[in-house]
Amino acid sequence: MSRAIDLSKLDPILTRHEGQKEALISVLQEVQGEFGYVPEEAIERIADALKLFPSQIYGVVTFYAQFYLTPRGRNSIRACRGTACHVRGARSVLRAVEQTLGIKEGETTDDLKFSLETVACLGTCFLAPVMMVNRRYYGKLVPHRVENILKQCD
Ligand code: FES
Repeated sequence: MSRAIDLSKLDPILTRHEGQKEALISVLQEVQGEFGYVPEEAIERIADALKLFPSQIYGVVTFYAQFYLTPRGRNSIRACRGTACHVRGARSVLRAVEQTLGIKEGETTDDLKFSLETVACLGTCFLAPVMMVNRRYYGKLVPHRVENILKQCD
């Protein structure tokens, strides 16, 4: 889905950091703060302003899990795929999320309501299998609870 992006929002950020290669991470954080992700259309402009190659920007954006190249949903779902969760049925929980939302891990729904990702461990193995929706943990999950949990999100 293509969305119109107002690239003029980049101007104040890039003006503040003109020529500052070392400011790349903060620039990317600011850009993501403005747009909710780092639009591909912005990368060339960032590269020009910081005197870097676009490939260097892509390298950083794809290396750090905190940066996204596509828009994120308003609600972030993080389903655990760690060992403790795996042995207690995490895969069927993930499948239930994917079926309910019609997306796969790493994707965002077209209405930008949900983004789904999996993580190696949420640090609450005693709740396995567990997923987080925004800041809230849902533990000892079974697939049939998933739809109800997701219905509560705005
Ligand atoms: S393995 Fe799932 S929370 Fe640790």
